[in-house]
Amino acid sequence: MGNLLIVGAGPIGTAAARAALEDGVVAAVSAVVDPDPAARRELETLTGAAGYASAADLPVGREGDRALVAFSSSADKVAPEIVRLLSAGYHVVTTCEELAWPARHIWQAMHTAARSNGRVVIVTGANPGFVMDQFPLMAATASRNVHAISVRRVVDTSQRRISLVEKTGRGLTVDEFRAGLASGRLGHKGLVASIKLLAHALGWPHHDVKETVAPLVSEGVVTGIHHHAQLRSDGRTIDLDLVMDWEPAEQGDTVHIDGEPPLRIHIEGGYHGDRGTTTQVVQALRRCPTLAPAFYRSIDLPLRIDS
Ligand SMILES: NC(=O)c1ccc[n+]([C@@H]2O[C@H](COP(=O)([O-])OP(=O)(O)OC[C@H]3O[C@@H](n4cnc5c(N)ncnc54)[C@H](OP(=O)(O)O)[C@@H]3O)[C@@H](O)[C@H]2O)c1
Repeated sequence: MGNLLIVGAGPIGTAAARAALEDGVVAAVSAVVDPDPAARRELETLTGAAGYASAADLPVGREGDRALVAFSSSADKVAPEIVRLLSAGYHVVTTCEELAWPARHIWQAMHTAARSNGRVVIVTGANPGFVMDQFPLMAATASRNVHAISVRRVVDTSQRRISLVEKTGRGLTVDEFRAGLASGRLGHKGLVASIKLLAHALGWPHHDVKETVAPLVSEGVVTGIHHHAQLRSDGRTIDLDLVMDWEPAEQGDTVHIDGEPPLRIHIEGGYHGDRGTTTQVVQALRRCPTLAPAFYRSIDLPLRIDS
């Protein structure tokens, strides 16, 4: 069945490893890589996995072995690790947001490494990966003459992991928020990726994309963040609106498809980003051994569950 290697033992890597074991998707968690010994400890204790501070010393993977790479949103940091893991014989699943729609040269490097090593790479997640791309795509395929799509997602960050709360700038002044945004430390990284994934899968040319980001402020202090992305394509539009705020009045995901017939789909309370990502990762781990060697984005995979 193959084992699982975790690269990045934060909340996502740890929860996904536990879920993959629970669901019988892997035989064991063989190794956990994280520079922070405290972050590694839970999985080492629970699963008996060997701990490593870096991926440089890992054993070679055997047929069916898979690695989950969940330590950064940055494509430049994650892509070289993926190429190294592919060469060491692992299939790779990653939650790296910037790889959801990678730059062409990065896509080529990973696709080539996957094919030449006979392995699979899947980029997955809740957002990007599902709520604002794959889910509206599924809805749009059920409507004719679609000319506008909008998705609004409101996330209550008081119910989410601390690393996400930090990315929204909660507790900062507006000037600190702007500095954090300029340095790349703050903000959601996947909105443009989601809009391009959606447009690409619909066959809409997608050169004209604009994204705006603003702080949500109460009494001079930042409480959250508001991202908006818009894509225009031959008179058709896609709007993605993402609010991540501390205890907003309500949270949820709403998809509007303006076509024939029109559709409005609302997920009451919203698709839970952390639990949803764990699920998407487990499904991707399950699928790796069944796919032809290649690099796969969320929209490249048919909707079904492989057993
Ligand atoms: N697409 C989606 O829907 C989605 C959803 C959730 C999360 N994500 C992404 O998935 C990733 C994991 O999320 P998380 O909340 O678990 O992140 P996290 O809390 O930042 O944890 C990441 C862990 O990886 C460690 N690490 C840093 N560099 C490493 C390296 N080179 N090799 C191995 N481990 C390394 C970190 O150690 P230090 O703390 O010492 O740096 C930390 O313990 C993040 O990039 C997040 O943005 C995507």
